[in-house]
Amino acid sequence: MPKVTFYINGKATEVETEAGKTVLQIALDNAIPVEHACGGNGFCTTCLCKIKSGGENLGDRNDKEENMGITEENERLGCQAVVNGDVELEVVES
Ligand code: FES
Repeated sequence: MPKVTFYINGKATEVETEAGKTVLQIALDNAIPVEHACGGNGFCTTCLCKIKSGGENLGDRNDKEENMGITEENERLGCQAVVNGDVELEVVES
């Protein structure tokens, strides 16, 4: 089972999840506060995350992320990034 570690204001919360869910889905399933103003549709950037490690365990960046200008190697939209393995990320406050 993939492990996802969320850092919010320097505090780490680690959860286990099944593969194939988005970062946002995993956060919401575990009552971890991640903003999602557009409802997870890739039209805002309030779910922005900075990847600390394990970026290779996320699914490929998609067109919605590129359209929103999220193209830095270590930045992903939580609602679009699919978790396939262990990852550590920082939730960016909007
Ligand atoms: S929730 Fe709006 S882009 Fe992810």
